[in-house]
Amino acid sequence: MNTSKSVLNVLKGKTENVPPIWMMRQAGRYLPEYRAVRAKAGSFLNLCYNSKYAVEVTLQPIQRFNLDAAILFSDILVIPDALGQKVSFVEGEGPRLDPVDSYDKFISLEEFGSKAIFNHLEPIFETLDVLKSRLPSNVTLLGFCGAPWTVASYMIAGQGSIDLTKAKSFANANPKLFDLLIQKLIDVQSEYLIRQFRAGANAVQIFESHAGNLPVGEDSILRWSFNPIREMISRVRAVIPDAPVIVFAKGSGFENHLRVIPETKANAVGVDWAVNFSELRKLIPITSPTQGNLNPLTLVNGGYKLDEEVDSILISATGTPHIFNLGHGITPDTPINHVEQMLSRIRKC
Ligand code: CP3
Repeated sequence: MNTSKSVLNVLKGKTENVPPIWMMRQAGRYLPEYRAVRAKAGSFLNLCYNSKYAVEVTLQPIQRFNLDAAILFSDILVIPDALGQKVSFVEGEGPRLDPVDSYDKFISLEEFGSKAIFNHLEPIFETLDVLKSRLPSNVTLLGFCGAPWTVASYMIAGQGSIDLTKAKSFANANPKLFDLLIQKLIDVQSEYLIRQFRAGANAVQIFESHAGNLPVGEDSILRWSFNPIREMISRVRAVIPDAPVIVFAKGSGFENHLRVIPETKANAVGVDWAVNFSELRKLIPITSPTQGNLNPLTLVNGGYKLDEEVDSILISATGTPHIFNLGHGITPDTPINHVEQMLSRIRKC
């Protein structure tokens, strides 16, 4: 059996004959075995903070589908939670936080350097530590966090929204305070990623899921997204040289996907489903790794269109370092046999 970690190989610029594959949100509600553990755990955050359950659900998609990477089961919003901003998940509605929308609320957050932050996150490092010894040697263990803007947008508004009006107008009306919040998230999350590597992560992904919706200003993606991410990566690499990082800037558009690696110094760019991957791959240096792009809706629908889209990605990626993945998270209504169809199409078995 091949014991080398194919996802890590690709992140180093190697082309694999069959691209390695994992799926964003691969441990989730589309799996009956996930729903069973989720029910036992009670709340979603209990699932994240209970290492035994978190290990179990992280391993589920690996055991079922033999995927090439396992992503730590947790959430980007454990960071605001660890900072003392109460986070909860409302069934069918998503996350709810007590908004940080004033200076007083900002200074009531835990200070960077406070032991409380990483004590709170201890179960997550424990999860990685256990996974490290439980995973087959060819499976890459991925850690992750949210990019500062995406996490800040939830912290300010107290919930998700389609156009992020509240978070953006807060940033425009309170530029200094907004900047302090971004800096704080850079500090805490750089350390968080370093600790994930130390606990066993082989690589990490930074999720900038709200890259398509930033505060106004000249080249706002550089200022509020790429620069903070680059700062985080540089701080991580000051401690863990060559730390492999994937950056996923969802909704940022074709041109900005081309800028992700040069501007952030990530090893790989996560490609969302809205981008023309075949055109993008032609413009990205042949040695630069890419990941993603399959539309999660195509996976829900299945049929010959799924085969066609899989083939099109495989053809566009031929001869280049590519990690097969979706262009955003797998949705709860995805039939499991469609995932199997996709995998056998990629692996030709
Ligand atoms: O990919 C994985 O399998 C690892 C686990 C993971 C989750 N969330 C589990 C989860 C990861 C990497 C995330 C990242 C995350 N969380 C992002 C960035 C990626 C993206 O999807 O854009 C964001 C924006 C969040 C915040 C978040 N968490 C929202 C908006 C929601 C509610 C939406 C929903 O699907 O209910 C969550 C909850 C969440 N995070 C679930 C899972 C499996 C579903 C909760 C449940 O089981 O009840």
